[in-house]
Amino acid sequence: MSRGVFITLEGGDGSGKTTQAELLQDWLASEGRTILRTREPGGTDVGVEVREIVLHHRGDITPRAEALLYAADRAHHIATVVRPALERGDVVIQDRYIDSSVAYQGAGRVLDPDAVRALSEWATEGLQPDLTILLDLDATAARGRLDEARTRYDRLEAEAAEFHDRVRAAYLELAAAEPERFLVVDAALPVDEIADAIRSRVSQLL
Ligand code: TYD
Repeated sequence: MSRGVFITLEGGDGSGKTTQAELLQDWLASEGRTILRTREPGGTDVGVEVREIVLHHRGDITPRAEALLYAADRAHHIATVVRPALERGDVVIQDRYIDSSVAYQGAGRVLDPDAVRALSEWATEGLQPDLTILLDLDATAARGRLDEARTRYDRLEAEAAEFHDRVRAAYLELAAAEPERFLVVDAALPVDEIADAIRSRVSQLL
């Protein structure tokens, strides 16, 4: 059975994932590949509803409940959207995946990172990305970009700088533990340079 390629983008809020996902999609399309571009949370109709809760619910959501909500979104998304695309042989470009939960719910909300990962691995029946692109940016620079771009912050973006510092450190640890899966790019570089670095790594996969 032919199998596609599963690429995930990770990084803090404001690290430029969306821009790079678009550039990667355009380049792969020009190479004649069929692409599915998707995201978590919110890559399905059920997921859109979960996304609204986790990002915009007014009032408290306990850390474990938050972790379960992201895992529920992920379970449905992987089973109904991502696995079918990979089975068709598509290249899947996905904004955020399990590493987001390990970094945000693990280091950010301070849950046991191994437990958070295990929950998502159960949810997805163990689907791993072929490549994860980490756009690394310090929290102050990321916040500056967000402040320019918008007026309303979601529940996670509204967290203190110290929360975002922990998330960043957790991402870098994840990347150091699995260097063969991760490409870490300095998100402060010019957009074109980042895109070039991503293309050269992705072309090795195809
Ligand atoms: P996203 O829509 O990617 O926001 P942005 O464009 O700002 O990166 O993600 C929404 C938020 O959800 C983001 O702050 C990170 C958070 N998140 C988690 O905390 N855990 C998760 O498992 C995922 C997928 C996202």
